[in-house]
This record gives sequence, C-alpha cells and structure tokens, in this order.
Amino acid sequence: VICFQAEIVEAMGLAMRQINVGLLGLGTVGSGVVALLEQQRELWQRRFNTRVDVRKALVRNPSRHRPGCEHIVCTQNAAEVLNDPDIDIIVEVMGGAQPALNYIQRAIENHKPVVTANKLLIACHGHELFDLAQRENVSIGFEASVAGGIPILHVLRQSMINAPITRITGIINGTCNFILSHMEQNGETFTRSLSEAQALGFAEADPATDIGGLDAAHKLTIIASMAFGIPLKLSALTVTGIENIAAIDVFRARELGYCIRHVAVAERREDGLSLRAEPVLVEDQSLLASVQGAMNAIVIETEGVGDMMFYGPGAGSLATASAILSDIADLLPAPSSASTPPLGFLPQGITSQPMIQPGLIHHPWYLHVHLKEQAGAMAALTGALAQNDISLERIVQPQGDTDTDRVPVIAITHEIPRACMDAAMEHIRNLNCVHAKPVFLPVLTIY
Ligand code: NAP
Ligand code: HSE
Repeated sequence: VICFQAEIVEAMGLAMRQINVGLLGLGTVGSGVVALLEQQRELWQRRFNTRVDVRKALVRNPSRHRPGCEHIVCTQNAAEVLNDPDIDIIVEVMGGAQPALNYIQRAIENHKPVVTANKLLIACHGHELFDLAQRENVSIGFEASVAGGIPILHVLRQSMINAPITRITGIINGTCNFILSHMEQNGETFTRSLSEAQALGFAEADPATDIGGLDAAHKLTIIASMAFGIPLKLSALTVTGIENIAAIDVFRARELGYCIRHVAVAERREDGLSLRAEPVLVEDQSLLASVQGAMNAIVIETEGVGDMMFYGPGAGSLATASAILSDIADLLPAPSSASTPPLGFLPQGITSQPMIQPGLIHHPWYLHVHLKEQAGAMAALTGALAQNDISLERIVQPQGDTDTDRVPVIAITHEIPRACMDAAMEHIRNLNCVHAKPVFLPVLTIY
C-alpha cells in the first residue's frame, strides 16, 4: 500500500484525500494532465473522494507562458520536484531516454510512485525500472505509453488472461496514420501532413521517430511483451517507416482497392513469433482502412474468445492525459478497508440524475413509405412532414412494383427530435394514400 503525504481537506462534509503531483515536463501531455484534472474534479470527488493537484513541473524554460498552468511552480531543477516531501506522485512526460531515466530512478528511490507516457523508456529500460520499483516497493504505471487514450495495456494485463493471444494487429502511431490518411483523403503532401500532425501535438519531439517507425516499434515491444510474456527487446522487431511513401503510391493503391496504413503486428505461430511494424496495403473496405487521422485501432485475435477490436484517439493532449489519470487512479489506496467500489463510484458519489425524455433526442431519420399511385399522394406525404417541422435532406423514388399500385418513397430527414417524427408517423399512417406500415429508423451519426 502506498502511503501518501496526505493533506486532508474538508469538503462535502467528508474528509477528502489530497494527492499532489509533480510533473517532469509540461508540454502537450503535461498540460493535458493539468487541464483534465481541472475538468474531472467533480468526477474524482464522486469516484474516489480525492482531489489531485499538480504542484510543480520540471521544464526547460520556466519563463515560458503556459496558459492554464499559471498556478504551477515551474523549475529547471529536477531535485525541487523529485525531493519535495509534499509531492506524492511523479508523472514523467518529458520524453527521451536521458535524463528521464535518471529522474524516474531517483523518484522510485525516494519512494514516490511514477506514471509515465514514455514508451522509449519502457521499451528500452523497462526491466531495470521494474526491478528497481519492485525492490523499493513502488508502483510504476505506463498505460499512456501505448495507443494514447485506448486502455489497451489494462486490457492485456487484466482482461485477457484467459484468452491466449494469437495475433495483435494495430495502427499504433497516430502521426503516421494522420499523414497517410491526409494524403489519401485530402490529396495533401507528406511534408504538409507531417507539419499539421506536429502542430496538433501528435508527433514526437523528433518526428523522425514517428515516420521512421521507431515509435510504433517501442509500443509494439511493450504490447508483445504483455501479450506473449516475452522480454522487452526492441531488436527483435522488423521496422520500416513511411518516409518513402509518395502521394502516387497512395493514389495507385486506392485504384487497386487498397489503403496504405502503418501497421504493427505481433504474431504467434507454431514456429515462433513475428514482430513487425511497417507500411502495408489493407483492403479499402477493411476496419483498418477506416481508421483516419491520429486515431489508433488494435485488433486482438485470441484462442477461444475470438477477435476484438479497440479503437480510439492514439495521440494528443487530453487523450494521453486520460490514460495518465487512470494510472494515477490505480495508485490510490482503497478509500476504506474495501477494495474499488463495485460500480466504480463511492456509495456517497452515486447520485440520481435527470433522464432526458426520448422525444427530445435529435436524429436524422430514414423513412420508407409505400404510396398508392394516385394524384396528390406525394403532396399529402410531404405535407404531413412539413406540418411536423420535418424537412428532407434526401428523397428517392425507386422503381415501383409494376404489378401493384404501390410507389415506394425513401427519404432521409434533417436532424429532428424524435417527438416530431413520432407525430409525423402517426399522421402518415392515417393518410389514406399510404399502403401498409411505413418504416422509420433513426440514423446514427456518431460513426
Ligand atoms: P512535449 O510537448 O515536447 O513536452 C515536453 C516537456 O518536457 C516540455 O515541457 C519540456 O520543457 C520538458 N522537457 C523536455 N526535456 C527536458 C529536460 N531535459 N529538462 C527539463 N524539461 C524538459 O512532449 P509531449 O508531446 O508532451 O510528450 C511527452 C511524452 O509523452 C513523450 O515521452 C511522448 O512520447 C509521450 N507521449 C506523447 C503523446 C502525444 O500525443 N504528444 C502521446 C502519448 C505519449 P519546455 O516546455 O520548457 O520545453
Ligand atoms: N507520436 C506518437 C504518435 C504520440 O503519433 O502516435 C502517441 O504515442
């Protein structure tokens, strides 16, 4: 059990636990941690009765203006963060091998639990860090090191223990996927797509790590170790980057019915394992082809359970911060003698909330009506829609059945509340120009 230097504050009439975080780095991910903690304050109170604050941050340039982080003490002196007795957890989001490795070791020696997003460090120095952490009885979390906001390491470590994995196939570098899908969708150049990925905070400090395939290789090293119980060993991988993919290759692949994606594969066969990260062609109707921008997707094939796919934001400030906060939550000692509450919220954090009436939910709607072949039938249908404030985005009249007097009409409405559609359907059902029961279905526009 980790003992925090807990400063107890009174709030909600309950003793709320206070956790102080020291950041090593306050760039894209570090500032996301600060912003997300602020956004999720109330949720953390309800789930864990805990308040988490970032107190100090190690940076290169303490005088830089950092919007939203003005309350944080910024320093160039690592010891000020690592040795501060009021700091309970160290979050390493500075990147690179050194001095990050040295700082994490010092944090562990100071008995401060560590959370890191640094895949290079875990892939190349994971074993020495884990050994040290075990000797010092300190936890180290690294969910954010792979696939940004997708909790894939948690899944591999905890949820897949009874489903032996045969293969993992994933898009695990957001920058490569951003570049390839931008070239494909927008006819954008490689260089401009990379600049945009950098501006959006997806790329590594040295983007050659992304486009050269090394970042995906670091992540695949971690995934493969957790999937197959093998040592973290970067040299076991075959790695190719996307630097040589030209717009013409993207175009030609499309002509043949394929998309180019940078894909990492960890595969177990009878004769051994294969670990590779490289650009490949995937069929343009496949799930991996549908992954756009900096999104990541990971397909896990198993014996027994079948295949699973995990999809989500693979890079970016808040997505990565979300994985860091979930590691911080895992470090919290149980609030009482009990373990994590069964529903994930403390009993006093469970509160009723207003439910939205179904009629107020907005959707576009699909509508399929059979009209009788008679004058004014279409006018009656569109009149019924208009009376209920429904406008149409699209309408088609497929060929009717020549043996009957039925004329099919298919339409997609603009977004409207369900209550309008219910009223219009009642109206339409009662029109004497309508045959049988009309079909109407909501169009889900999320994915
Ligand atoms: P970043 O924007 O470049 O931020 C790095 C931060 O660390 C900056 O605040 C920088 O200080 C500080 N820093 C770097 N080297 C330092 C040194 N030697 N001494 C003191 N401070 C130093 O990087 P990031 O995108 O947040 O990435 C951080 C880590 O998260 C990396 O390991 C990366 O691989 C990982 N990660 C990133 C993402 C993402 O989407 N960006 C996603 C998952 C994981 P200044 O601000 O003064 O320059
Ligand atoms: N540079 C990384 C990427 C950040 O583009 O996927 C997320 O690990």
